Amino acid sequence: MKIALASDHGGFELKQIVKEYLLGKNMEVQDFGTDSLASVDYSDYGIQAAEAVANGDADRGIVICGTGIGISITANKVKGIRCSLCHDVYSAEMTRCHNDSNMLAMGGRVIGRDLALRIVQAWLETDFEGGRHLRRIQKIEDYELKK
Ligand code: RB5
Repeated sequence: MKIALASDHGGFELKQIVKEYLLGKNMEVQDFGTDSLASVDYSDYGIQAAEAVANGDADRGIVICGTGIGISITANKVKGIRCSLCHDVYSAEMTRCHNDSNMLAMGGRVIGRDLALRIVQAWLETDFEGGRHLRRIQKIEDYELKK
């Protein structure tokens, strides 16, 4: 699985931790930055990762800013993206089961390393349930296509 990864300065440290974790699981990672703690705009980085997922260049994406909010809002502006802001393992599992979430957002200033990695693991390993949930996602996609 190829993962598009991006953060701003508020998510930089957690992005590096997540990157190391993914590489340790033999996953391919496309890191769109940022590359330091210097202040940048989360929107610049979130869009790049979201476009990689939407274009099929990456299978899924993980984006991180200070709260996870700004970068998740950004990612969800890209057509075809269902980016879920998760700070607990239950939500990470459920958003895969019910929303077929293709991007995960987290806040580097909100949660610690161990919880973040458990969230990532649950989100990566949980399958979409389909069925009635597919119909609901289809309605989101229908709306996107009408715009
Ligand atoms: C940057 O200071 C901070 O605003 C950003 O990382 C994020 O939390 C925005 O939603």
